[in-house]
Amino acid sequence: MIKLDKVSKKFGTGTLALSSIDLTIENGEFVFLVGPSGSGKTTIFRLITRELLPTEGTIIVNDWDVAKLPKHKIPHLRKRIGVVFQDLKLLLDRTIFENIALPMEIAGVNILEAKNRIEEVLEQVGIAEHKEKFPIQLSGGELQRVAIARALALSPDIILADEPTGNLDTNTSWEIVKLLSLINQKGTTVIMATHNAEFINGLAKRVVSLDKGRLISDEKKKKKTKEKNL
Ligand SMILES: Nc1ncnc2c1ncn2[C@@H]1O[C@H](COP(=O)(O)OP(=O)(O)OP(=O)(O)O)[C@@H](O)[C@H]1O
Ligand SMILES: [Mg+2]
Repeated sequence: MIKLDKVSKKFGTGTLALSSIDLTIENGEFVFLVGPSGSGKTTIFRLITRELLPTEGTIIVNDWDVAKLPKHKIPHLRKRIGVVFQDLKLLLDRTIFENIALPMEIAGVNILEAKNRIEEVLEQVGIAEHKEKFPIQLSGGELQRVAIARALALSPDIILADEPTGNLDTNTSWEIVKLLSLINQKGTTVIMATHNAEFINGLAKRVVSLDKGRLISDEKKKKKTKEKNL
């Protein structure tokens, strides 16, 4: 479970990036976090992973009170959360396979065990044939799949996907949303941030909307007959 209770975040003396956010996401949910550029989506993700501390309020992830977590426990929290970064953060001098292996290496996973798991996630996201290539040899959609595979490597409870369709054409974007939806159907909680609210209109998913750091709506869309087949 992820629970934000009256969470505010102020950077320095200036911007109030988030303003008294109350948000609860149960295990196994799929949530779109939408809002224009600068509305606070990435800031919410960075608070959940304890990259940032809230100015006010409480953040609970699983059973952890994130802001109060002692330093040595932060890696435990981060292992449970797979992040697909807005700028991907892939290492250009490593192969796709090596990029996916990286969080496992850092977590001290046994190499033989890691190899099987990496093959599994490569298959799951549909890029197994590219594993020996370097990032520069892949398309934008394929690179998103690599970033998703890397986020999945340690079998997290939660995936935070930050604008994973940002630079993609419509069809490729749908493929990525479909992939995240499949991952969610296997039990992983998925939060996908996007500034493109229109794109996800008509999907029977929960949509949390932010505007200038405020949570302005939280709706579970009803299934329509015309709903896209996800
Ligand atoms: N490290 C920081 N220092 C100062 N201000 C910051 C910092 N990070 C974010 N902000 C500000 O906080 C606000 C929210 O930023 P955030 O990155 O969360 O927006 P976003 O919804 O993810 O936008 P986008 O759709 O462009 O990715 C913005 O006004 C931004 O300038
Ligand atoms: Mg952002």
